[in-house]
Amino acid sequence: MAQPIDTNCMTLTRYVITEQRSRKDATGELTTLLNALQTAIKAVSSAVRKAGIARLYGVSGSTNVQGEEVKKLDVLANDLFINMLKSSYTTCLLVSEENETVIEVETERQGKYIVCFDPLDGSSNIDCLVSIGSIFAIYKKDHNNAPAINDALQPGRKIVAAGYALYGSATMIVLSAGGGPVNGFLLDPAIGEFVLTDPDMRIKSRGKIYSINEGYESQWDEAVKKYVNAKKHPTTGKSYGARYVGSMVADVHRTLKYGGIFMYPATKDAPNGKLRLMYEGNPMAYIIEKAGGLATTGHIPILDHQPTKIHERVPVFLGSRDDVQELIDCYQNNEKIIILNIWSISFHPSHQCSKVTTC
Ligand code: AHM
Ligand code: MG
Repeated sequence: MAQPIDTNCMTLTRYVITEQRSRKDATGELTTLLNALQTAIKAVSSAVRKAGIARLYGVSGSTNVQGEEVKKLDVLANDLFINMLKSSYTTCLLVSEENETVIEVETERQGKYIVCFDPLDGSSNIDCLVSIGSIFAIYKKDHNNAPAINDALQPGRKIVAAGYALYGSATMIVLSAGGGPVNGFLLDPAIGEFVLTDPDMRIKSRGKIYSINEGYESQWDEAVKKYVNAKKHPTTGKSYGARYVGSMVADVHRTLKYGGIFMYPATKDAPNGKLRLMYEGNPMAYIIEKAGGLATTGHIPILDHQPTKIHERVPVFLGSRDDVQELIDCYQNNEKIIILNIWSISFHPSHQCSKVTTC
């Protein structure tokens, strides 16, 4: 007879402890950090779910009926992340989308980890109840000296653990830690625990969905225009479907589950795109690569991009391996055409290469 309750379920807390015990060199610091993150995410999830009732919407700075200051949801989420992480005694530097400069943890509470996070991504979707999320990437300080900003400016390849929380029709944490697989843990509100529901998530090698804000089409470069056009008007087979939530976590999670490609390219107005490398591009690229997909700026893997400042932006293309490879091919072919044209103009002005229409 099926039991109504799994009396031996794999919670996120249990999973992290089990992983820690399986590694001889583990000190337990990452376990403590991940537990602190989990607490922050549970509190954010609770705030998101009762945001209307608790009057969490709107501009921060106003007061509620008790005369307490009402915090806008993203300010509240940021405070939760910072307070939980600092009080875990496992971090030394924090990089948040909400803070202009790097946050240095007080010396007496410092640990060896650096956490980059967007505490509440997709904030334009808060007031209309569309899915939002939190994104995080964890790095290690690899020396015993005092932390400095350069410790935070590490490329994504050095990530120790990364993931996101999606506050959708349910709350889910997707995490890959210590080079392990990508696992999805669904929040069971009855017990207040994240339970492993999606072990070893793998992304399809090809999908049927492209995801991009088409409103900016006139501002895209030629490679993106050609790629999207080919998805809409294929020479053979069916055209791709289009989906775009406008919350990166929701769009990336759908891409991970169903396959396809998510794109936030450079535009004429934003030559590096909109998304931030350290707490949007990198953690998502890490998850997608670990799940068997690809994540690129169009020119190099996102994880290989060396950051020079904490709020740096980067074009983002990620998803199913074959879909993203096609996009990379579009960029490479476009570069070849440009070089050929320069060569033709320089040496054979009468033989200028004609514009190609496919990737
Ligand atoms: P935010 O950090 O201010 O919330 O902005 C990031 C969000 C992403 O979640 C999403 O992919 C993107 O902005 C959507 O931007 P746009 O409205 O330009 O399509
Ligand atoms: Mg954001």
